[in-house]
Amino acid sequence: MKALILSGGTGTRLRPVTFTNAKQLLPLANKPILFHIIEKVAKTGINKIGIIVGDTSEEVMRTVGNGDRWNVDISYIHQPLPLGLAHAVKTARDFIEDEDFIMLLGDNAFNVSLDSLIRNFRTNNADSTIMLYQVEDPSHYGVAVVEKNHITKLVEKPKNFISDLIITGVYIFNKNIFKAIDNTSPSSRGELEITDAIQELLSTGGNVTFEILQGWWKDTGKLQDILDANRMILDEIDTYNQVLSKDNAVYMGKLLISKSACIKNSIIAGPAAIDEDAVILDSYVGPYSSIGKGVVINNCEVDNCIILENARLEGIDKRISGSLIGKNVSIRSAGKRPYSNSFLLGDCSELYL
Ligand code: DAU
Repeated sequence: MKALILSGGTGTRLRPVTFTNAKQLLPLANKPILFHIIEKVAKTGINKIGIIVGDTSEEVMRTVGNGDRWNVDISYIHQPLPLGLAHAVKTARDFIEDEDFIMLLGDNAFNVSLDSLIRNFRTNNADSTIMLYQVEDPSHYGVAVVEKNHITKLVEKPKNFISDLIITGVYIFNKNIFKAIDNTSPSSRGELEITDAIQELLSTGGNVTFEILQGWWKDTGKLQDILDANRMILDEIDTYNQVLSKDNAVYMGKLLISKSACIKNSIIAGPAAIDEDAVILDSYVGPYSSIGKGVVINNCEVDNCIILENARLEGIDKRISGSLIGKNVSIRSAGKRPYSNSFLLGDCSELYL
């Protein structure tokens, strides 16, 4: 079996951060979402991974590399335009050859292993096996109707409620999916939908099985969702600190702190992750914070945040919470009169004061 990971497309809902960063490379607990996915694939023993790339191909290829660090072989497949998930699969035809393959979306995060889904596909001799997940509001996803333990219908983003079981971005296919895609037309949003192709498989007598994911799953496309996913990954840190004091700093809870981080006169309350060369002085870093490489936090309070490389936060009165802060962003107190707010913000920035 091979693996196909989709890392093309555009990340419009996380602008401006995704103007300059591939959304699949945004970090959860200081590790790109894509790395979390590759790790899951590598754990199954699959060692041939194809990654679909688009506009952000250079950044993705530079960051991910050839797969050596996971002991897998990574190839890149260029999709000229993001014309849909099924279009991405079609583009990968030469890479897949006639093998079975597991497909994952590069911006999804979840905490279950892929082994049981692969077992389900093999023992049922399925044409496709998909991972479903129960949610309160399914309207933004592909949805599956399940009756008597069988999928009877699949619809991409249905306008009216038909089921609360959504299709997560985890699918397994055999080569029959290619014929199904050839018999599928673009949807109203102009994309060749993988949901329609699986429906086509089903309608033509294909065997489509499923599993309902019991852990947690998140599409990280929106601010609240990426913060949620970051929280859930941080909750899984297994290095637990009893209250510990060093350099006049107090550490408590589950923490992943790089040895090269410099922390003084501060309180660090986990779960939290602090990356290489971060500097934290006279500050409070609270639960669910991921502090990136080289970030400086001086005389501030933060919690529930993802702060990317080399950002600087200095002398801010109010706690910074529920935020995704991009690379090299600088937020500082003016420190002198007039005490007005002054901004230099990029396109599509959002501020909540
Ligand atoms: O997140 C789960 C949902 O993902 C499913 O419930 C839907 O059935 C499925 O269609 C998909 O919906 P989205 O509208 O959320 O897909 P999105 O455009 O966000 O793309 C998912 C990933 O695939 C993302 O990492 C970008 C990549 N992609 C997307 C397109 C459209 C490509 O690589 N190529 C593409 O052409």
